[in-house]
Amino acid sequence: MGTPTGSSLPGATAEPAAPAELPAPAAAGAESGPARVALVGVHGFGVHHLRNLERLQGAGVVELVAVADPHPPASGSVPSSAAVFPGLDDLLAETQSLDVIIVATPIQTHAPLALAALAADADLYLEKPPVASLADFTRLGEAAAASGRSVQVGFQSLGSHALQAIEDLLAAGIIGSLQGISATGRWVRDKAYYKRSRWAGRRSINGIDVVDGVATNPLAHAVATALRIAGARTTADVASVETELYRANDIESDDTSIIRIRTAAGLPITCALTICATESVEPYVTLQGTLGTAVFHYTEDRLTIETAAGRSEQAYGRDDLTENLLAHRTRGTPLMSALPDSGAFMLVLEAVRTAPAPTLIDAGYVRWEGEGDTAHAIVVNIEDALERAGRQHATFSELGLPWATSAPTALTIPRSR
Ligand SMILES: NC(=O)c1ccc[n+]([C@@H]2O[C@H](COP(=O)([O-])OP(=O)(O)OC[C@H]3O[C@@H](n4cnc5c(N)ncnc54)[C@H](O)[C@@H]3O)[C@@H](O)[C@H]2O)c1
Repeated sequence: MGTPTGSSLPGATAEPAAPAELPAPAAAGAESGPARVALVGVHGFGVHHLRNLERLQGAGVVELVAVADPHPPASGSVPSSAAVFPGLDDLLAETQSLDVIIVATPIQTHAPLALAALAADADLYLEKPPVASLADFTRLGEAAAASGRSVQVGFQSLGSHALQAIEDLLAAGIIGSLQGISATGRWVRDKAYYKRSRWAGRRSINGIDVVDGVATNPLAHAVATALRIAGARTTADVASVETELYRANDIESDDTSIIRIRTAAGLPITCALTICATESVEPYVTLQGTLGTAVFHYTEDRLTIETAAGRSEQAYGRDDLTENLLAHRTRGTPLMSALPDSGAFMLVLEAVRTAPAPTLIDAGYVRWEGEGDTAHAIVVNIEDALERAGRQHATFSELGLPWATSAPTALTIPRSR
């Protein structure tokens, strides 16, 4: 097992990573000093990056030289070192020699901003999901290869030290041979969540893909973490993807879904996800072994192993992906969430993007709690449905749930890529 730290990360994936030992300033930044960093998108999840960059700037390993956002940051909310621009084009026109650009903007803006960042000869930290279609993923991969720049994708759970512990326990046969993996996500999101941005809950806007579904945005880490544990990184590592998408909210995209994947090695992965739960619990990935199970609560870096010998639980540390990108630049440390390693995830996104519109769950099976913008939908007995789906690798319709009037849709995986 890896090094237990006793520290666990509270709350959702948006929480900052556990503090890691920072590399010495001279080693971590550009050769002559701190890495020159720009942040695109300063509100929403950009705030997490701002705080992290302030921490890294305090340690002398980065200098936040510029930020871009059409909604300017509140006065005093970005370090005085940072020039403020309304967009990346203006920022790039005025800012020389950037080492790293961090993009934390709405999904549909990722592709053009990422391409512009690479064209500026900077390394890129791109929030998840990397882009909104497989075609854009291919284009971005080609641009990254041609530029020779590095791209880190913001699946921060992939920095967890528990992943090495899982590899070790599988190699040691502690839970026997791995039969399948499930990812279970039960969150609560209210109406305000879908009102916060115009792209929230959209499949596309004016013909531009957004793909803001439960598996591709709020609970995307559940999918990405399950794939990583299964050893499925690139598109070649996935044999099939099926989706069954539903919604209880008045949105275009899905909020309650099954994603069933088979890896090229034949391992089934079933992701059973909702943001219409009775109450939010931390999502988890379950490894189903012949001799026991291992359950990884990835937002908390917490691993629970259960076998005939008993039950054990351990919390692990986590590497910060921005620090990992800096270490990659200066020392060649492997990226923990490199762009090509999002290929398997991108097949899931492509399956969601191209699937039929999600089926509306009959109102008779949806309960609403709360008032006004704080009202949230609860799909009745969804907790039991998610558990059974994950255990049996079955979709909601295959379980015979009365509201599950849809059927699984399979993605045709383009194999020329
Ligand atoms: N890694 C995680 O745990 C995590 C958590 C939440 C969100 N995210 C990701 O972060 C990204 C942003 O999500 P959000 O909910 O904060 O979105 P948001 O709609 O709140 O937008 C974030 C910011 O981007 C700005 N923005 C929009 N278009 C821009 C442009 N063209 N150039 C510069 N700035 C622009 C907005 O004004 C806003 O300040 C998404 O990709 C999302 O999936 C990641």
